[in-house]
Parts: sequence; C-alpha cells; structure tokens
Amino acid sequence: MKTNRNFNNLVPNYLFAEIAKRTNKFLKENPDKSVIKLGIGDVTLPLAPIVVEAMKKGADDLSKKETFKGYPDYEGYEFLRQAISDYYKSFGVDVKTDEVFVSDGAKSDCGNIGDIFSEDNTVLVTDPVYPVYVDSNIMAGRKIVYAASTQENGFAAMPDENVKADIIYLCSPNNPTGSAYTYDQLKKWVDYATKNDAVILYDAAYEAFITEDLPRSIYAVEGAKSCAIEFCSLSKTAGFTGTRCGYTIIPKELERDGENLHALWYRRQATKFNGVSWPVQCAAAAVFSEEGQKQIKENIAYYQENAKIISSALDELGIYYTGGKNSPYIWLKCPNNMGSWEFFDFLLNEANVVGTPGEGFGQNGEGYFRLTSFGDRDNTIEAVRRIKELLKK
Ligand code: MLT
Repeated sequence: MKTNRNFNNLVPNYLFAEIAKRTNKFLKENPDKSVIKLGIGDVTLPLAPIVVEAMKKGADDLSKKETFKGYPDYEGYEFLRQAISDYYKSFGVDVKTDEVFVSDGAKSDCGNIGDIFSEDNTVLVTDPVYPVYVDSNIMAGRKIVYAASTQENGFAAMPDENVKADIIYLCSPNNPTGSAYTYDQLKKWVDYATKNDAVILYDAAYEAFITEDLPRSIYAVEGAKSCAIEFCSLSKTAGFTGTRCGYTIIPKELERDGENLHALWYRRQATKFNGVSWPVQCAAAAVFSEEGQKQIKENIAYYQENAKIISSALDELGIYYTGGKNSPYIWLKCPNNMGSWEFFDFLLNEANVVGTPGEGFGQNGEGYFRLTSFGDRDNTIEAVRRIKELLKK
C-alpha cells in the first residue's frame, strides 16, 4: 500500500499546533510564569443566554419519544436555513433557503470543498493566508499560486491578468491581516473569475466584525452568484468554536465544466457528512433571532473594545498595523526588524504573551505578527501593559 505522499510537502506542524507546542515547552520550563494567549483566534466569552436555552430545549427534545430526532437532513433543517437566508436579507443580500448547507464549521468546508474539484486545477491564495486553504490543497496535490498581500497594497491582494487560476480562495475580513475588501475590489475578483472560468471560494467567517460600509458577503457583488461559493461560521460571530456550526452557500446557478456545483456538493455531503445535531441547529437558529442578534452583538462589541485596547497601545508605540477595525485580528509589523518567529520567542520569553508569527501564514507574513482580540478583557489589558513595558525600553 502507499500513503498519500503529498503530506510530505506540508510543513511538519499545523501552525497553531506548533504555537501550542512552543508555548507548552515554555510553560513546562517556567511553571511560575503566567502566560497570556493571544495567538489562536479562540473566543473566551460564553454562549449567549438565548443560545444556551435553545440548546437545552433541543437536548430535552431528544429525551422524549415524540420529539426525538435521528439523522438530520444533510443540508441542515429548513428552519435554520430559512433563518440564515433571512439574515442575509437583513443586509440586502439574496440567498435562497435551498442554496444553504449547514455544516460543522467553515474550516471543515473550506478544506473539504476540494472533493468536488479535479486535482488538476490551479489554486490561487492570497499570501499571507489562513493555512487551511494551502494545506488542504497540498494534501490533494494541487498546484498553488500566490497573490501577494503587502503593506504596499494594504494587504488586499488583487488579481493579475497574467496569472491563470481555476480556484481562488478569498477571505474578507481577512485572516490573518484584518484587511477587508471594498465592493470595487471584490468586483475585480468576480470579473477575473468569470473571465477565467474560475470559482471563488469566499470565506466570510469574520463578516460580523465589519464596522464600515463594506460588503458582508461576496453575493453583494454583481455577478458573484455565477462564480462564487461562500463559507461562513458561527465560531467567531456567536462563540461556537467548540459548539461547531457553520454554513456554506452554493448558488443553484453555479456551473463549471458542465456540472452543477450545488448538486456535486450535496452528493459529497450525503456521502461523507451526517449533519449537525438537533440541539446545535436549534442553538444556531437562536443566534439569528432578534434577541439572539442583540445578545451576540454585545459579545462582538466586547471583542471590538479589546481590539481598540491593543490598537491604541500600538499607536502609542508607533508600530504599524492593520486590522482591528473590521476584524478581530490586529496585524502588526514586528518592531526593530525582527523576524516573526524571533518576535514570537521574544514576546513569549520577555512578556509571557503568545501571539501568532506572520511567517506561519506565508512568505509575505515574515516580519509581521498577529494578535487576537478574542481574549478575556483583563488578560488583554495585562498583555498590552506587558508589551508596552517591554517595547518602550
Ligand atoms: C485562527 O486563529 O486563525 C483561527 O482560530 C483559526 C480557525 O478559525 O480555524
């Protein structure tokens, strides 16, 4: 037998596993230190009360014969898909109930979507990039090309007419750089994809953090329904990183190579996925209720305040950064021209603060560093105090 040798082309550890490894080593060697983790973008606030109530009621339903549920629909229960469709309507975007697939999160779907595409396709990612897009395509043996996101272009890579790509991953607001595309910029990508018969895989996991007048969905852009698939998640929007629920939108009209992509994904999901549990889908639907939206927005505001606390410190220190405004991530230039892993070690050893080295997100991330605003308030304030003390020296 043979294993999948494409795995040999991956970096040895998944980025956040490598960070956890280094952090745990430090903690083992320095058990008296209190380390503050602003590395992986994991939420710290509990689920909103209305969400917990809905989940409890859902669990209760499973305890009675009359309301018990077995396998859910592959594409998710209609009431949740309707709630998602209504949510899109609330910001002026038309997504039909039968275009929605409920899933266990955007990470899985972004990785698994490759099942419906040939291995011969060329994949374009922006660099720096969320590692899942790269690693899942390396595993499949696809060729990957990189579009540079740099300080010069405001970390918003744009299409190059001379590059031919078939699959394009875009993430806006961006993980890791926190930059968000404007309508006109997204229109250029939609036009490029249409012209090249390509498909855009649009990760909107951070759309709820947008504060400015920017598109919350690729479908806000004219022409996107015939060239784009969108992934979204309740992880960051509503604290579901552990609970697991997301959704993928595939317009019915999206066709490539004579095939309907919605039909291919349905076939894939029916084969390899048995859906999201009843209590979790009940909880997810509560997120989209009027009261649910009010409650989750309070949590988002808490994280946005954390982002302001971090950004203000960087302003004081005169450090260049992007993000924080339409995104929970702050992407900063490492001080004193340090490399990003060098700065990671420096910050861990000297301030006992963990962040994410930009290089872990790709070549253009070298020299940059990501901090998350998903921490607890007191920890964020303390981390910022330590960083200021260290860097003012
Ligand atoms: C991150 O820190 O980039 C995210 O937590 C990763 C993810 O959402 O999987």
